[in-house]
Amino acid sequence: LWLALGIRRRQPGEPPVENGLIPYLGCALQFGANPLEFLRSRQKKYGHIFTCKIAGQYVHFLCDPFSYHAVIRQGRHLDWKKFHFAASVKAFGHDSMDPSHGHTTENLHQTFLKTLQGDALPSLIENMMENLQNVLLQPCSCPPKSSQWEVDGIFAFCYKVMFESGYLTLFGKELNPQEDQSLARQEAQKALVLNALENFKEFDKIFPALVAGLPIHVFKSGHSARENLAKTMTAEKLSKRKDMSDLISLRMLLNDTLSTFDDLSKARTHVALLWASQANTLPATFWTLFYMIRSPEAHKAATEEVRKLLESSGQKPDPHGPHLTITREQLDNLPVLDSIIKEAMRLSSASLNVRVAKEDFLLHLDNKESYHIRKDDVIALYPQMLHFDPEIYEDPLTYKYDRYLDENGQEKTSFYRDGRKLRYYYMPFGSGVTKCPGRFFAVHEIKQFLCLLLTYLEMELLDSSVKVPPLDQSRAGLGILQPTYDVDFRYRLRAQ
Ligand code: HEM
Repeated sequence: LWLALGIRRRQPGEPPVENGLIPYLGCALQFGANPLEFLRSRQKKYGHIFTCKIAGQYVHFLCDPFSYHAVIRQGRHLDWKKFHFAASVKAFGHDSMDPSHGHTTENLHQTFLKTLQGDALPSLIENMMENLQNVLLQPCSCPPKSSQWEVDGIFAFCYKVMFESGYLTLFGKELNPQEDQSLARQEAQKALVLNALENFKEFDKIFPALVAGLPIHVFKSGHSARENLAKTMTAEKLSKRKDMSDLISLRMLLNDTLSTFDDLSKARTHVALLWASQANTLPATFWTLFYMIRSPEAHKAATEEVRKLLESSGQKPDPHGPHLTITREQLDNLPVLDSIIKEAMRLSSASLNVRVAKEDFLLHLDNKESYHIRKDDVIALYPQMLHFDPEIYEDPLTYKYDRYLDENGQEKTSFYRDGRKLRYYYMPFGSGVTKCPGRFFAVHEIKQFLCLLLTYLEMELLDSSVKVPPLDQSRAGLGILQPTYDVDFRYRLRAQ
């Protein structure tokens, strides 16, 4: 009977199991409504490892941070690719990128590492800085006179500025044979990118549903938004762009040489990268800016750090003068901004780290206990449990901009639980081999954004006592959560 109902009974040596009340879904609804609350209550009941049936899958949640390495060090029993490749196909509709399915021989992981890290980083950063300044200091975004305040939502502002700059950095600008730099031409380019932003937002809304397995045809506007994006990323359209990133040009080459994808499938793989490069960065930028403006101490410390940097490099900011340059080394040496970004992400990230068991095996935990795991079961880590653990982070719900600074004002890396130093205490970018390959670029671009804003703009909240908007839990598991509503601020050019 148990088998017929699809219900699992706990076998000796297995973690405690909860089948949930609904046959196929199991605990999915309770988990989805508030994952943190759900996992905390189960941890209290069962201890640091337990199994929940979620949408037909048995998921073992591991809650002891000292045992994380057992999963992260990528044992030979665990597979991470299966899940990622499947999720990408479901969401973006391209043919499978898993080489074992025979449509391509590209090693995507290698492509990402080669084009987003190490030697590839300086040119990405340089282009981003140029694009950010073009976008921010354009007559239409930048208030003309220093006395004039502009009002906008912080979310809306961050989305416009970061999306356009990030888009141009990855996908380049439209090639323009006449080198026609007229204002009308620039406006037309901008309209194109902002149109892509609207499509991106419309598609992003349905992303959680697609990953959960719903077919895209159910969502009329989300579906057409995705297809509109794909139409702008066909090989024909992309070949007319210049200053494209190594990431996209290499991916185009490998799509052409190593895959059997048709044109549309190729274009959809680029949409996937547009999404990966923006979907977390945009809300992370919102939270960083929101919390920073809301905290006078954070705002002051950050302004001071950036002022010193420009002073030491002998640059005099002038919104109508030459653009500022900040090198990768200089960006790497901004501990206050680093801490401000980390603290904002600690409070807003909710990524789920998953691996699939390739075979039956024994999972060894830190406390010497071992558990039987069955083939095809999922093992999951939910780092928000770390980020909101009061033993690791005192007053975990309170924003403290200097949480990641030590007594010398440098990066703090010592965090403890039960008196033991933790190896894993901050995980918004995932872990191990599946760690986000764009994480260095992501932090650099948010820092560049902050440097420019702090240099050129005076900013304040319209309502200085505004409450922190709640996190939109519908995206829990997928990365940085969005706020449920926007918060207004005003800004004007700083008198230099
Ligand atoms: C994957 C977070 C920005 C490119 C991921 C994953 C997370 C993540 C949690 C999944 C890791 C896992 O499954 O364990 C973030 C956050 C960002 C950010 C919090 C910003 C604050 C970026 C940027 C890029 C990027 C700017 C590219 C320019 C990617 C790619 C993957 C990925 C390509 C898939 C890697 C793979 O499947 O092998 N990111 N990301 N990310 N990210 Fe990011």
